Amino acid sequence: MNIVIIGAGYVGLVTGVCFAELGHRVVCVDRDEDKIGLLSAGRPTIYEPGLEEHMIRLMSEERLSFSASVVDTALADVVVVAVGTPQRMDGASDLTDLESAVRSFARFLREDAIVMIKSTVPVGTNERVREWIKEETGRNADTVSVPEFMREGSALQDSFHPDRIVIGSDSEQAAARAADLHAPLTSNILHTDLRTAEMIKYASNAFLATKISFINEMANLCDKVGADVQVVAAGMGMDPRIGNAFLKAGIGYGGSCFPKDTHALLQIAGHVDYDFKLLKAVIEVNQTQRKRVLVALGEQLGALEGLTIAVWGASFKPGTDDVRSAPSLDIVPELVSSGAAVRMCDPAAELGFRRAYEHPQVTWHKEPLSAAEGAHAVCLLTEWPVFTEVDLTLLRSVMAAPVLIDGRNAYQGEAVKEAGLYYTAVGRPV
Ligand code: UGA
Repeated sequence: MNIVIIGAGYVGLVTGVCFAELGHRVVCVDRDEDKIGLLSAGRPTIYEPGLEEHMIRLMSEERLSFSASVVDTALADVVVVAVGTPQRMDGASDLTDLESAVRSFARFLREDAIVMIKSTVPVGTNERVREWIKEETGRNADTVSVPEFMREGSALQDSFHPDRIVIGSDSEQAAARAADLHAPLTSNILHTDLRTAEMIKYASNAFLATKISFINEMANLCDKVGADVQVVAAGMGMDPRIGNAFLKAGIGYGGSCFPKDTHALLQIAGHVDYDFKLLKAVIEVNQTQRKRVLVALGEQLGALEGLTIAVWGASFKPGTDDVRSAPSLDIVPELVSSGAAVRMCDPAAELGFRRAYEHPQVTWHKEPLSAAEGAHAVCLLTEWPVFTEVDLTLLRSVMAAPVLIDGRNAYQGEAVKEAGLYYTAVGRPV
């Protein structure tokens, strides 16, 4: 099939590569001409393992190309919409880009083409997309809701081996076309109506966020009663009804999805006067959990004025350069306000972090040990291997005071103590 993808951001680009690998001819369209220039030169605009190799080969085989013009929509059997739906100030999803994208390609849409919405959108949006197309063209188009479940850092793997493909539609023909598009990845297809498909996406992310906030609350309680949350999580996870994934305690979730989608789901509930108490608590627990690093620093060092604190990790998780809603963006400004000099290191996210936050008290260093030089404490915020595999004795030798605050439970307490460091983790006796 001929596929046009509208929006060459994270989801659009990875989806484009995946569909091209499945044998379709794909054009990724984005209004950002600079981005299209880079992509057309074979340079990915996001950091995702393996993406560049796939892109370059698919482009040379003429199965994947990039364009800044929505006129290309005229080629498409399926138009996939993957534009961003960022969070508005009130927490709801901002559909401005989605609406303008749909209205701009509508008149080029072939009569037999279907429109597949991959962007994460509030319940009812697929129906609005149909209305926008009708307003622009006077025609009824078929829309299909196919939410995306890929994770940053393993997006290609997730796309080639999805655990499920949800296809929401009220047209059998359109649903069948959407299923064909995914062949041969068709083992776990769930067909639903449009609104249910939209809801599955929010429910999935909200549930995963709930697991994280739950285990973080358990960790806080473990600290107080002297239990070990990692073993508690392992014991819980042995029950297949609970499962062992997403029970890693730490300083909470970040990224472009969980924070945004949990807030958007609260808004969706609010619009129908439903008080989603559990979700409110999940969000609040996550926000408080980030402060643990600051509380631990206060306990170990007292006032931070005039001290030097090394921060290891700026991205919201390892394997990505993404700093959106990352704990680092809450923690570092607080360290600065308390008068500390901050020495930072991250293998991929320096540029992204500096675009969001710069301060004369914050310096950047290429190596973990150079960031730790002269520091009174090292705070691990993101568990990149370059940090977790560091030689702890060497680390101790370059620091001014021996404090290691581990926000991700990434070290063995015994090894840290043997190296002569004072160690604080999350929910583990040390
Ligand atoms: C998440 C979902 O996992 C994907 O299924 C979904 O498609 C995606 O959002 C999206 O909606 O686009 P992602 O944001 O890439 O994917 O990141 P995750 O790997 O899920 O991690 C999210 C955050 O949770 C990270 O900050 C991570 O450090 C934290 N986390 C994760 C924990 O604190 N504990 C855990 O046990 C697991």
